[in-house]
Amino acid sequence: TKPLRLGIAGLGTVGVGVVKIIRRQAEMLEMRTGRPVVITVVSARDASKDRGVALTGYAWETDPVALAKRDDVDVFVELMGGHDGAAKDATEAALASGKDVVTANKALLAIHGQALAEQAEAAGQVIRFEAAVAGGIPVIKSLTEGLAGNQVTRIMGVMNGTCNYILTRMEATGEGYNTLFDECGRLGYLEADPNLDVGGIDAGHKLALLSSIAFGSKPAFDDVVLQGIQRIAIDDIRHAADMGYRIKLLGVAQRTARGLEQRMTPCLVPANSPLGQLEGGTNMVVIEGDAVEQVVLRGPGAGEGPTASAVLGDICDLARGLRIATFGQPATTLQEIPAAQTGLP
Ligand code: NAP
Ligand code: HSE
Repeated sequence: TKPLRLGIAGLGTVGVGVVKIIRRQAEMLEMRTGRPVVITVVSARDASKDRGVALTGYAWETDPVALAKRDDVDVFVELMGGHDGAAKDATEAALASGKDVVTANKALLAIHGQALAEQAEAAGQVIRFEAAVAGGIPVIKSLTEGLAGNQVTRIMGVMNGTCNYILTRMEATGEGYNTLFDECGRLGYLEADPNLDVGGIDAGHKLALLSSIAFGSKPAFDDVVLQGIQRIAIDDIRHAADMGYRIKLLGVAQRTARGLEQRMTPCLVPANSPLGQLEGGTNMVVIEGDAVEQVVLRGPGAGEGPTASAVLGDICDLARGLRIATFGQPATTLQEIPAAQTGLP
């Protein structure tokens, strides 16, 4: 059988996780997809760095755009990060060269997802991005497959593990925001630009992607009402606890009479609810649909194994020939749903 040939750009936390799974589970992946899943070429900035995993047998490209165009690549796996520069250039080059794309890059898709999806659709290619939202939780697959028979009415969730870690540690230790922010820095939890985490931007990117899938609308990050956790004081947390609530950086996307409303802001949630019981770096997404009522998904939102697990889910779908576009189900032009059609308040 013809193997599915991967070109992986980015060998950091997630890229190394993907290489490890493919090396460790080659037989299992072939059994599950019906064909070998092989890496042909990899790319990163520093060719001399020891990445803790063998890269023998793979070609090396320093330029990710060159990797994306190679004839021995069927699927371009973008794991570099950043919403412009190499990630965008190489993704566009891959689509233009007839490759499908798998990425974990929420910033790229929240900002350029519409244009990239249109480029992909015009070329007959697909972009898959399960790992971009809530790490190891298969939330996109749940929305597009298991819950496909539902009109989604609301999505809520905690989608940034770093913020949830800071808030739950503030509550447990009585330490202030600044102390816990510094602790996250020491533990390596913060994005290179920490404002992406604590300013709610990273979680806002994820919410914009999820709501575009759930409601069939364009990803609209600029329409997300954003507020970070930087100004939450320990007294806010104590007062909330006295009343039976906890403070979470909560994303909510719902249909209203004014159209799709998206908010990513600190909220009070009942301490005894599933969202209220969420600890540390864990993520949770609550999906409400007209038929299913409510589904709660919980799991690790980041890290080598969980994020690579989600990347492999997309790769296996492509290996099986399930080339369904994630945006705009089914893969037709992406249009915003007029609010009047929703019939909801
Ligand atoms: P990372 O550890 O910083 O790794 C990034 C990799 O990309 C590195 O190997 C780097 O090369 C390479 N790279 C960066 N710019 C490049 C360029 N211009 N040309 C060639 N290679 C380049 O990042 P990560 O944590 O693995 O994240 C990767 C993606 O997954 C990001 O979009 C991130 O938002 C997303 N994501 C990450 C997590 C997580 O838990 N880490 C969870 C969900 C989604 P060098 O190693 O040589 O510097
Ligand atoms: N910085 C992100 C978080 C990483 O803390 O959730 C995963 O997207």
